[in-house]
Amino acid sequence: MNAQLPTTEIIGPPNLYPGFAHFALRALVPGSDAPCEIRLESLLPNHPEPRLVVALTRGAEITPAWRQRLLQSGVTHVFAPLEELDLLLAYLSQQSQLALAGSAGEDPMLGCHLAYEHALCCLKAALLDPRNGRRLGLGAATVRKLVDMIWDNHTTRQAMLKMLSRDQDLASHGLNTCLLAVGFARCLGWSRLAAERLGLAMFYHDLGLVDLDHPGPDDAIWDGIREGTAIEDHPRLARDYLLGIKDLDPGVPELVYSHHENLDGSGYPRGLAGEAIGAEARAARIVDIYETGTSGACGRQYSNPYALLLVMRNEIGLWLDRSLLEQFVRFLGQI
Ligand SMILES: [Fe+2]
Ligand SMILES: [Fe+2]
Repeated sequence: MNAQLPTTEIIGPPNLYPGFAHFALRALVPGSDAPCEIRLESLLPNHPEPRLVVALTRGAEITPAWRQRLLQSGVTHVFAPLEELDLLLAYLSQQSQLALAGSAGEDPMLGCHLAYEHALCCLKAALLDPRNGRRLGLGAATVRKLVDMIWDNHTTRQAMLKMLSRDQDLASHGLNTCLLAVGFARCLGWSRLAAERLGLAMFYHDLGLVDLDHPGPDDAIWDGIREGTAIEDHPRLARDYLLGIKDLDPGVPELVYSHHENLDGSGYPRGLAGEAIGAEARAARIVDIYETGTSGACGRQYSNPYALLLVMRNEIGLWLDRSLLEQFVRFLGQI
């Protein structure tokens, strides 16, 4: 195994505080009311470890001064109790729609930031409970709205592709790969239907990882070296969860099932090769490896994407569709 190969799997989401989900402070809009209890990570006297303290109660006004003070103190994320996650999701959905409708406001990027954060929180909610078909359906609807947002609007598409989170967790990975895949499909001239199918598949492609016992970051999972371990089951697990979403294009779960197949037959779970792997699954493989390698979520980060692309062309070139990879490089050059 070449130690330079990129890891191709994100190690699951950091469970920062059991019972709470974290989200970006920038998603709380000044002047609106807190949709749920908002907590902050804080160091308390006599406690060596940071703890969560209540910063706002549900319904309290989010004042510009409060938000500004936190941002100036370097706070980027806040926390919501899991039992109030649906309230937060409804708030983010509403606020992103309001901001997008009035995009001439103070911050023209606010709508994009909120839409990104809403989709991220939808995916976090799905990852917390992948058997919840209603939440999975909510995430799928959110992805369709994202495609609506970016398909015909060059400015919004570029803005969304530039704001990919570096949070290094499974939710960020799913959303980033989703946006990259939709942009890539559009660049390839694929139909909107195909782009949406690919975007949906990427959004949920690693859903099956939440069932695994995650090793620490030093035990990064390298493709193909843990034969026989449960990791090889995650594409099937994710596919089976997606079967719980009503009215989903059947191509989506099939794509998810194929996202670790390599052209030379060395992938998993079926060891498909060559023509047996469709163009969309080939594109999914490229986007997945690229996002994993550049996010640093597995401990190895290619701060220079060019270095990663060279590895993808030379070290693992036999896994990937060369022509698609060349077009992916061109697509990246346009972001
Ligand atoms: Fe995967
Ligand atoms: Fe992945």
